[in-house]
Amino acid sequence: MIVCVCNRLNEQRVGAAICGGAQCADEVYARCGVRKNCGRCQETIEGMLEQSREALSLAAE
Ligand code: FES
Repeated sequence: MIVCVCNRLNEQRVGAAICGGAQCADEVYARCGVRKNCGRCQETIEGMLEQSREALSLAAE
């Protein structure tokens, strides 16, 4: 699934950036070598970051 239409970032690339340590949407863009354009994807990316944080905290329990 394409997450960021402007930069053609799919779920896998965003997920890899998050697994690589991105803590916010801007860091995801940077790790993917792109810049935010329209910003419509930011909410989706923030949601993916939140899911990742929740998964990590569950794994730590
Ligand atoms: S959809 Fe990601 S910057 Fe426009």
